[in-house]
Amino acid sequence: RYEITQREASAEILPGVKTPLWTYEGTFPGPTIESRRGRPVTVSHRNTLPVPTVVHLHGGRTPAASDGYPTDLVVPEGWHGAAVGMGHGSSHGSSHGMQDPRAVLTTLTRDYTFPLEQRPALLWYHDHRMDFTAPAIWRGLAGLHLVRDDAEDSLGLPAGPRELPLMITDRAFAADGSLDYPAVDPTLRERPGVGGSYLAGVLGDVILVNGAPWPVHEVDAARYRLRVLNASNARHYELEAVLDDGRRLDLVQVGADQGLLAAPVVHRFLPIAPAERYDLVVDFSHVPVGGRVTVVNRLGSGRTRDVMAFRVVRRAADGSRIPRVLSADLPLWRRSEAVRVRQFAFRAGRMRAGHGWLIGGLPFDPARTDVTVRLGDVEVWRFVADVHHPVHLHLVGFRVLSRSGGPPLAHDAGLKDTVSLRPGESVEIISRFDGYRGRYLFHCHNAEHEDMGMMANLEIV
Ligand code: C2O
Ligand code: CU
Ligand code: CU
Repeated sequence: RYEITQREASAEILPGVKTPLWTYEGTFPGPTIESRRGRPVTVSHRNTLPVPTVVHLHGGRTPAASDGYPTDLVVPEGWHGAAVGMGHGSSHGSSHGMQDPRAVLTTLTRDYTFPLEQRPALLWYHDHRMDFTAPAIWRGLAGLHLVRDDAEDSLGLPAGPRELPLMITDRAFAADGSLDYPAVDPTLRERPGVGGSYLAGVLGDVILVNGAPWPVHEVDAARYRLRVLNASNARHYELEAVLDDGRRLDLVQVGADQGLLAAPVVHRFLPIAPAERYDLVVDFSHVPVGGRVTVVNRLGSGRTRDVMAFRVVRRAADGSRIPRVLSADLPLWRRSEAVRVRQFAFRAGRMRAGHGWLIGGLPFDPARTDVTVRLGDVEVWRFVADVHHPVHLHLVGFRVLSRSGGPPLAHDAGLKDTVSLRPGESVEIISRFDGYRGRYLFHCHNAEHEDMGMMANLEIV
């Protein structure tokens, strides 16, 4: 059991200035929770922030009551805004939420219970309030949750100080150190580096890893396990590990969003979309002492090109290994098992008030059931995209079946819960919808797209 107080705090992220944040327990990222597979965990959240919140454990196989539905609000003590808490008068959802008793549930504190009957994986928890997820995560409401088990522990992968969870985000800062978010101050859209329009998603020009800008981490000349999460609102990365002399180190992928792969996959560089996780082993043993390995984002430029660096500080013994067989329990659903194929278009479109992001032509509405799936059914879902959309399903992991009619890409391996649709692409996934009955979600994990309607209800019956 954990107790987390959501509260305002500030941190010195950039030297010499304080950044006000919304935090879990005073820090950004929030406290990392480590759990064992099948051992239930209860996290009790108390909200002392000036706004209602909702906590979702991303990647968790969680009963619907604890999944953090966007209108299951934890309201701050002494907060009198509940009656207007359902939106900002924008185009979707705000009109009916309070009338539908099913849609809104408010509490002052809330116990979220996670059975964690699932494969060991790097999960993360973050805010999920309807219409306000993106600014809440931007202000700091995100943390890591590692699930482990004995089988994984016994593989011999790098562990202890040689296992590093890395939460990568981008943020924009004002001169006084406060975080810039264009929805809060629309003039910031014009600032160089803040980047692009709000509609496309919010980008920052400072890259943070575990809350620190462009950190340099000292390492032994040995293998390290890097558990990478892209927790950025909208930024995509293509990561590579570059030595001083320009050579690249292999990124050996051992796991995906939902845990270990069947066998390792070697990448020279690795695309990572918002909310995706990659479990990587990087071998620093041939890097000379004093040498530096920079993790670079090939899609970035200027300040956003570098992500972080590793400085090799000493030779050291390394008893770790990368087994050729990593796991034997990966579900392998065949297309012939699927009882249904559904198609969803992820596209921009007109909403009642202005422009938004739609699934199948509709913006999110908590009072509408978009998809009803029978518990235990295997289904194929085909997603088609206009621009880049990282699509995430709650509750279930899935496998990528195809991309635009062809085979999946190398980094689509394993069990995933978020898949990156590239512009113009159609992607098929397959999953068995088991676990729990109830109301879940699927949505684009570009957090601004999500807030601007690109989310839908998945009812499991
Ligand atoms: Cu990471 Cu529905 O979210
Ligand atoms: Cu999720
Ligand atoms: Cu999107």
